Amino acid sequence: MATTPGGTADAIIRLLCERGTSDYIGESISQLEHCLQCAHSAAEAGSDDETVLAALLHDIGQFLPIEDAKDVRMSMGEYSVGRVGHERVGEEYLKGLGFGDKVSKLVGSHVAAKRYLTAVDLSYYDALSEASKQSLKFQGGPFEGKDLDTFEQDPLRDEMVSLRRWDDEAKIAGIEDVTPRAELYRGMIQRHLERA
Ligand SMILES: [Fe+2]
Repeated sequence: MATTPGGTADAIIRLLCERGTSDYIGESISQLEHCLQCAHSAAEAGSDDETVLAALLHDIGQFLPIEDAKDVRMSMGEYSVGRVGHERVGEEYLKGLGFGDKVSKLVGSHVAAKRYLTAVDLSYYDALSEASKQSLKFQGGPFEGKDLDTFEQDPLRDEMVSLRRWDDEAKIAGIEDVTPRAELYRGMIQRHLERA
């Protein structure tokens, strides 16, 4: 991956556009549209740039070519596939590219936020899609005890919860025309990397 902020921004946009065309598992839109809708919701809510970027890139761990994802897992001391989820792969990958703590932490927490919300809000669980209910089982289920307390007290809790809700809602088919395209976030990525 390129080493200048502008080059890295270009490479990320390319990665999203080229690899995001596959179906979003269990849903009726592509992975790219899912990420663009999520980022747009964050921007519409008046979020800061870090939160918008985290929304855009929250699933980047699923976009990486297999070899890149393997390199990230190895750097985390993970030698067999499967124990580290895509959210943690994305977090480490973004850190490695020079993204700031807030962006990488929000990306790394979007599964934890689901585990938190299913623990504290039964209506949240009921509203999950079937695919999302199934994946919750593999993600460890609703938080309990110390895990629940730790999440509750995290200074980024509100942003983590908001990101999760945008993630859940970003599954609407047929709104490509009114959803800003990936290229519009290129400058935001570059500026963030220059500052981080
Ligand atoms: Fe997602």
